[in-house]
Amino acid sequence: MTERITKDMARNIYFGGGLFAILVFTGLTFDSVHRIPKLSHADKITKSVIAGKKIWEDNDCVGCHTLLGEGAYYAP
Ligand code: HEC
Repeated sequence: MTERITKDMARNIYFGGGLFAILVFTGLTFDSVHRIPKLSHADKITKSVIAGKKIWEDNDCVGCHTLLGEGAYYAP
């Protein structure tokens, strides 16, 4: 029986594919980190936003409600 994929070819596919995946992952990670300042709207966080977050956390509102997809789906 003829061998279609040699051990050398399999090794090259393994390491080449692994290196390619690492490069893609690293590139996407840098891209995501680069976008955080724009997506977080950090410039719009006022004192009342901070106070609301404190109320939300201190009273466990997240235990029943959801904000931006985070929290429980028990209450509206
Ligand atoms: C034990 C679970 C629970 C916790 C904790 C909780 N809630 Fe609720 N909340 C509910 C339920 C259930 C309703 C729906 C009541 C109804 O419609 O009769 C509700 C309704 C509301 C509503 C009205 C929503 C609407 O669309 O009418 C607001 C606003 C609200 N909660 C705010 C909060 C805040 C702020 C906190 C934290 C301080 C909090 N809730 C904590 C269960 C909870």
